Amino acid sequence: MINAMPVPPSPSPGLRIEGLSRRLGERTLLADLNLEVGPGECLALLGPSGCGKTTTLRLLAGLDAASAGRILLDGDDISRLSAGDRRVAMVFQSYALYPHLSVADNLALGLRIRGMAAREREERIMAVLELLQLVELRLRRPAQLSGGQRQRVALARALLRQPRLVLLDEPMSNLDAQLREELRPELRRLLCGGSQPVVYVTHDQQEAMGMADRIAVLREGRLQQIGSARELYEKPANRFVAAFLGRPAINLLPAEGQRQLGLRPEHLVPVETGGLAARLQQREWWGHQQLLWLESARGDLRMLVAADQPLPETLEVSWRPEHELWFDSHSGERLAAS
Ligand SMILES: Nc1ncnc2c1ncn2[C@@H]1O[C@H](COP(=O)(O)OP(=O)(O)OP(=O)(O)O)[C@@H](O)[C@H]1O
Ligand SMILES: [Mg+2]
Repeated sequence: MINAMPVPPSPSPGLRIEGLSRRLGERTLLADLNLEVGPGECLALLGPSGCGKTTTLRLLAGLDAASAGRILLDGDDISRLSAGDRRVAMVFQSYALYPHLSVADNLALGLRIRGMAAREREERIMAVLELLQLVELRLRRPAQLSGGQRQRVALARALLRQPRLVLLDEPMSNLDAQLREELRPELRRLLCGGSQPVVYVTHDQQEAMGMADRIAVLREGRLQQIGSARELYEKPANRFVAAFLGRPAINLLPAEGQRQLGLRPEHLVPVETGGLAARLQQREWWGHQQLLWLESARGDLRMLVAADQPLPETLEVSWRPEHELWFDSHSGERLAAS
């Protein structure tokens, strides 16, 4: 009888980041980042300006050197490979297209440099142009394209290289809100659910919630929480995550015993009696809803109600206990419900 060959353990697929850090002199730009992104998964890196989002992408792409940590792609340690050998595609905020070249030539350039045969090059470019609906625009120069079209060219160039990992740094920040909303499903269809992991940087929380399977929130180079949009919204790890996700922002009220009470504006409701007395200061009418700015003895409140809700000058507001989020007022960590 022939014994079966032992099967080697299969390398864990996707991207794995272990203890990744970047320090410059005294400053820590990224501190001990650990996370995994599965094949076809889209992870949004979310956080305010300067929190380390671009720093993280540049480390993954090999454009900057890490001070510590490892990056594994499908089990291979790529940390020491040069940017050119990583097969990682990065789409920059500025798109970085060559202004004097046509769309097709912008796409061809990278492949030409790598010595690909003309026939194969043409075929690949055509396939990507079709995928991104750019065939009719292929002879135009970047200046003759709209922002959304340029964004698609930058994406086409990234996908052409058949990368093992796709990194996007605020790819839609140059576009207006309406176009961003239109492009979100298109980007999701193109990028997510394929075989490569996608790391998508944005500081627009709505974009992160709409685009990504999971969201990682960064603050001052430190990971605060990673999870689905819903997990982060309903069970934020701390006050920072609670305040960063959700617009209008969560109300944070001082409470007894070094605690702080968080209440989302949509969870406040007007009641006849037995609620917190409040006075209406201002309102914003949004068509589908209205945002009320209230003043109360416990602090100012934002309350989101139906657009046709009648509005007396003074009212009482209440909320359901299960919607209370409690935070330690010093550390900001979320506390178990009480
Ligand atoms: N080469 C550098 N030298 C010194 N500091 C740097 C360098 N590059 C970035 N930084 C600093 O590192 C921090 C993180 O920068 P990073 O570009 O990663 O922020 P970001 O999250 O991408 O912000 P934004 O949303 O504004 O693009 C910032 O405080 C920035 O000033
Ligand atoms: Mg950035």
